[in-house]
Amino acid sequence: MTSVVTDRATGPVEPEPIPPVLELVGVRAAYGPIQVLHGVDLTVHPGQVVALLGPNGGGKTTTVKVAAGLLPMAGGELRYAGQKVNGISAETAAGMGVCLIPEGRGVFANLTVRENLWLATGTGASREQIEERAYFRFPILQDRRNQLAGSMSGGEQQMLALSRALATDPAVLLLDELSMGLAPMIVSQMYDTVAQLVEEGISVLVAEQFARTVLPIADLAAVMLHGRIAAVGTPAEIDADLSTTYLGG
Ligand SMILES: Nc1ncnc2c1ncn2[C@@H]1O[C@H](COP(=O)(O)OP(=O)(O)OP(=O)(O)O)[C@@H](O)[C@H]1O
Ligand SMILES: [Mg+2]
Repeated sequence: MTSVVTDRATGPVEPEPIPPVLELVGVRAAYGPIQVLHGVDLTVHPGQVVALLGPNGGGKTTTVKVAAGLLPMAGGELRYAGQKVNGISAETAAGMGVCLIPEGRGVFANLTVRENLWLATGTGASREQIEERAYFRFPILQDRRNQLAGSMSGGEQQMLALSRALATDPAVLLLDELSMGLAPMIVSQMYDTVAQLVEEGISVLVAEQFARTVLPIADLAAVMLHGRIAAVGTPAEIDADLSTTYLGG
């Protein structure tokens, strides 16, 4: 016997649109009494790289912290895959596939590379699996595996931070100042890696003060000023805007 599903009232059923992986709607946030986000709207669709740009103190880090559940919101809505998750903890956020690599990389300087990787085992993968995957992506980490993370170069530390994040099998990576303190060639290698991660199905929100490093791989760019999104557009549009309006040159 066969069964045929039809919907006589409406005809063929349209596929459900895929919701954004990450959405901030009218998000407000404060440090103590001082409000620093004043209604931030930001959307990351599956497979996108969204660049969050703007000068010091604009609110980029605060925005990614809210998105990762590290800072409570004072208003608005945070959604993962279309689901409202206001008040989520960073741990639950990570469990739902939203993972932040913080400014300064968040590696433990006094632990070796291997020990840093082992800390990512809360996620189901074994130590061996996590190491294997990290060394496959970044062979240099294998050579450095018994070295203290703090004694590695900035680029190597960023590779370690990325490897740890990837061990959690994230759907969305939040990167805060990926390029900070890195030589231009290393920055472009890191962004090649990010582009490859997107090919593998990960979506990315990246906060960067320096637009030139991230715009080439971004699908969409937003400029933050004084806790608000001042402009959103294609990388080309925002590049033009940045050189004239926002960064004064
Ligand atoms: N822990 C904190 N306590 C109080 N105020 C803070 C704290 N962290 C950030 N701020 C303030 O919030 C505002 C936004 O800062 P935020 O770090 O989000 O900016 P940013 O765009 O990431 O800047 P940068 O480009 O320098 O990294 C700034 O005015 C900053 O001084
Ligand atoms: Mg910042």
